Amino acid sequence: MCGIVGYIGHRDAFPIIIEGLKRLEYRGYDSAGIALFDGTDLKVTKTKGKVVDLEDRIKNEITTNGTLGIGHTRWATHGVPNDVNAHPHYSNSGNLVIIHNGIIENYESLKKELSKRGYTFKSDTDTEVLINLIEDVKIKENVKLGKAVQVALNQVVGAYSIAVFDKNKPDEIVIARLGSPLAVGIGENEFFIASDASPFLEYTKNAIYLEDEEMAIIRANKEIKIRKIKDDSLVDPYVQELQMNLEQIEKGGYDHFMLKEIFEQPNAIKDTYRGRMLVKEGIIKMAGVDDNIEKFLNANRVIIVACGTSWHAGLVAEYIFEDLARIPVEVEYASEFRYRNPVITNKDVVIAISQSGETADTLAAIKLAKANGAFVFGVCNVVGSSIARETHAGAYTHAGPEIGVASTKAFTTQITLLTLIALKLAKVKGEISNTNYRYHLQELELIPEKVQKALESDEHIKAVASIYKDARNCLYLGRGYNFPVALEGALKLKEISYIHAEGYPAAEMKHGPIALIDENMPIVVIATKKGHYEKVVSNIEEIKARQGKIIGIVTEGDTNVKKLADHVIEVPETLESLSPLLTTIPLQLLSYHIAVMLGKNVDQPRNLAKSVTVE
Ligand code: G6P
Repeated sequence: MCGIVGYIGHRDAFPIIIEGLKRLEYRGYDSAGIALFDGTDLKVTKTKGKVVDLEDRIKNEITTNGTLGIGHTRWATHGVPNDVNAHPHYSNSGNLVIIHNGIIENYESLKKELSKRGYTFKSDTDTEVLINLIEDVKIKENVKLGKAVQVALNQVVGAYSIAVFDKNKPDEIVIARLGSPLAVGIGENEFFIASDASPFLEYTKNAIYLEDEEMAIIRANKEIKIRKIKDDSLVDPYVQELQMNLEQIEKGGYDHFMLKEIFEQPNAIKDTYRGRMLVKEGIIKMAGVDDNIEKFLNANRVIIVACGTSWHAGLVAEYIFEDLARIPVEVEYASEFRYRNPVITNKDVVIAISQSGETADTLAAIKLAKANGAFVFGVCNVVGSSIARETHAGAYTHAGPEIGVASTKAFTTQITLLTLIALKLAKVKGEISNTNYRYHLQELELIPEKVQKALESDEHIKAVASIYKDARNCLYLGRGYNFPVALEGALKLKEISYIHAEGYPAAEMKHGPIALIDENMPIVVIATKKGHYEKVVSNIEEIKARQGKIIGIVTEGDTNVKKLADHVIEVPETLESLSPLLTTIPLQLLSYHIAVMLGKNVDQPRNLAKSVTVE
């Protein structure tokens, strides 16, 4: 994980790097640092804490002049978060400085070798080993920085995106990538380097995304030279025009990104189906699916791989694919799948779901599936991300940038996209009647306004949140399509409020969690009409009999659950298969308000990161 930023050109590097780091804090935020070349010398400042802490410290420590600099916001892997382990790290001579996102897996053996040669280390990080390895190669082989980086990286096992410069040659930055993302913004006689394009959006819309195993030497006033790390061959730079704009990555009047993103869902869902779902014509078109329709139709099964919230979206998709398209689906945690020697054949279709498109385990699962001959389809939000590029085909969710670490609009847009795919396949396979198919399209088209309606319960949900904010545990129950929503609701609460929460299939409650129920236990039960309504109502009765506190998520106008529950939160009526798109909304708001009332850092919860590029 970690976010990296760099600048070389004619502007002051400091504000660009600090603002850039703030935008990349979703990638990690336990320490931060910056290295600037001020015209005569190298100035490095780093600190435990967030980028604002770094800014505070810099005020007292260094001048902020200079047109060359690099900065880092960290998510600790090797070494606790403290000032010393924070990046940038420099070499023993003090000449070379580096920022790094990733893990050098063989750092211990490299460190041993370097120690024998007299190198010493101040930090516990793998990164300090790498910069000294680069220095060692540079001195030993008497080569320029670019070559030294290349030779060193060929000895390294692991993942990285790095930026390095030499204070004695302050007109170039060397960057490289393997497994962690790296974008270069191309300006007029200036270059921006960052883990994603957000730090340089106001300066340029032209960007190059480095591919795995590529490195580049960037010189101010000159061109960027990209090479393959392994064989040194030159690569033609492919410059893309960015579609994102600055407004999309700012808070727009909301207190938190998470709240903004929750409220963006009506539009985000619309953006997901816009141009793909032609309701009047009864057509769903998605190039990635259309061009590979035989692969889907001939598949023995679909295997969905994902992590976190995206895995929950995969579970919802399992219900939709099996229910509507009658295609067998397995949903796998990417981290388990990749290591358990799974049976994969060329008759399998693997769907990888990932908001960031950078999750290391999901990426590795894709590579494994491809190596075994499966057709791999990506469902990503971030355009041009590693997963989007690694898959054979795919479709973007078009949710816009999601900055809050707790995923919200990514989840509902993933479900929307997967629903479109399932409906399309159901239609082509003849598994769904024309009427039912049309009905689904019409209902899906209405979802954005129904989400809007669900959002109107915000004040009521806030009031419910104030009653349960001090709970220590919380149970979430749902059945069928809404079982994964229960899992997602529980995940949202624990992620941002640190209250222990568990999601369970409602009927499984009696096989364990029922033992936890007493008058102090809040239980959120998704009990919308259709599906297994009566059965869930019976489960509510069972909870009531044990004095549990019931928060029912119900269909508008419901009276049964209202009689039993302590509180109800209504959502508009829709098809059962589309209900997760609505029932999720109050659960997102409930966890948001509880976390805010507890004074937690909603957008940057402790220990988490938005983009998990380590396994
Ligand atoms: C992290 C994030 C989660 C996200 C998961 C998978 O844990 O905090 O919000 O669901 O990674 O990320 P992806 O980008 O692959 O969807």
